[in-house]
Amino acid sequence: MLKFQIREAAIRVHPTFPAEPVNVLADSAQLKQVLMNLTINAVHAMNSTPEPELCIAVGQHENTATLAVKDNGVGISPDIMAASSIHSSLPKPRQEFRFGLEHLF
Ligand SMILES: Nc1ncnc2c1ncn2[C@@H]1O[C@H](COP(=O)(O)OP(=O)(O)OP(=O)(O)O)[C@@H](O)[C@H]1O
Ligand SMILES: [Mg+2]
Repeated sequence: MLKFQIREAAIRVHPTFPAEPVNVLADSAQLKQVLMNLTINAVHAMNSTPEPELCIAVGQHENTATLAVKDNGVGISPDIMAASSIHSSLPKPRQEFRFGLEHLF
């Protein structure tokens, strides 16, 4: 369903994964749910973006695993950003969410 939406909206997807698998102590179903939610948000945010692009990056820095979902959609307004515990590290219109997964579960 989500794959269909991504294809339908002609979104270019750029996945980035480290050469070595990243092991995390987490519930895989919940992790999948997080990724799905962020991806759906991104798809919605790119509704009127002429060349929608979605970057999904998995990384590891010492003992922290990261999952970054980035889109070139409308961006997130400061009030929503302030109300959220999510940290954004890039200026608009590109938004990036970085999670230390150990903080999520
Ligand atoms: N990638 C994004 N770009 C722009 N705005 C975003 C993005 N992700 C979230 N938002 C904004 O933050 C709001 C809250 O997002 P959140 O995922 O918590 O709820 P929702 O998507 O509205 O509803 P739900 O996820 O429960 O279906 C969204 O309604 C949207 O306005
Ligand atoms: Mg959402």
